[in-house]
Amino acid sequence: MRISPICLSLLPLAAATTPLLPQHIFSNPSYSSSEYKIPTSSESAILARRILHLTPLGTLSTIFPTSHHTSEHTQEQRPAGLEGMPIGLMDYISDCETSGDPTILAINIATSFKNVASGSNISLSLQWTPPYPPKSRIESMKNTFAYSAANLPRFSLLGYLEKIPASEVEAQDIGTCFVKQHRDSKYWLPGNKIHESEWVRLVVQEVYWIGGFGDRAYIGWIPVEQWRNVSKAEWEGVRLPGEKKGWKEWSSNWFGGLEL
Ligand SMILES: *[C@@H]1O[C@H](CO)[C@@H](O)[C@H](O)[C@H]1NC(C)=O
Ligand SMILES: *[C@@H]1O[C@H](CO)[C@@H](O)[C@H](O)[C@H]1NC(C)=O
Repeated sequence: MRISPICLSLLPLAAATTPLLPQHIFSNPSYSSSEYKIPTSSESAILARRILHLTPLGTLSTIFPTSHHTSEHTQEQRPAGLEGMPIGLMDYISDCETSGDPTILAINIATSFKNVASGSNISLSLQWTPPYPPKSRIESMKNTFAYSAANLPRFSLLGYLEKIPASEVEAQDIGTCFVKQHRDSKYWLPGNKIHESEWVRLVVQEVYWIGGFGDRAYIGWIPVEQWRNVSKAEWEGVRLPGEKKGWKEWSSNWFGGLEL
């Protein structure tokens, strides 16, 4: 794999404390040459489920349909030749069910949901953005550099959308859960007078995870049964990098809140 100059420029920063090898930025070592204990895929699933729970916004990616879909809701014309083109757009998400399937309030006239209505699959990309900057970087670099986002977890959930039946919306109190995280969404809840909307879940079929640099974090597919199997107690029991003040950016193993 070709490493871009931007990636290589991270190396001196990393090398200050760790022997990060450039070939292991975006892939795991094939043998256990890592100084660190690389989390397993099921440990990574726990971190991913915590990120899903703590992250209110994500990017939905869908594909424009091959035949021009005429919608009753809008006269909007899109440029020609976009068939099969992917488009990623930010949307509100919430973790209102226990299954690991993200909850979304689908607005029928929005591009992501129009594409889905025309048969597109969908993926949701999430990234972990620490609420606090790393302590050491501020002190040593006088805050000139951002921390290395390449060393932070991000992942994509791949699957399809499914309407959440009214009985399940009620039983799980989906509306209350969603509005708690997104107060403004009360204006476009199902039944509002302006936009047609409905509660949907992204039924997760595949999970692709990049936990950070490959010498210390798992990079690869997480089996979907591991994703679904994570309990609330498990994701409540771990901590992500930068959840608390004074974290060390180059710590190797955040699993279980341990800074090794
Ligand atoms: C959706 O994804 C599945 C694989 O999970 C694939 O078989 C199917 O063709 C996809 N649908 C479209 C419309 O691309
Ligand atoms: C599901 O979780 C249980 C309890 O933590 C564990 O024993 C089991 O191995 C897990 N199964 C999978 C497929 O991860």
